[in-house]
Amino acid sequence: MYICICNAIREKDLRCAARCHAGDAETLYEEMGFSPQCCQCLHDADVIVAAERAGIPA
Ligand code: FES
Repeated sequence: MYICICNAIREKDLRCAARCHAGDAETLYEEMGFSPQCCQCLHDADVIVAAERAGIPA
């Protein structure tokens, strides 16, 4: 499933980045070579990042 339509970022890729890098979703986007465009995904992306780091599966 895509979490960010503007950048075509998949949830599984965001979860992978959350395991390898510190910071919030916006920081992880930058680590992945993207930057937020419309920013409508950032809240949900932050929830996914927190869930991944808490060990909650998709
Ligand atoms: S949907 Fe992620 S920046 Fe627009």
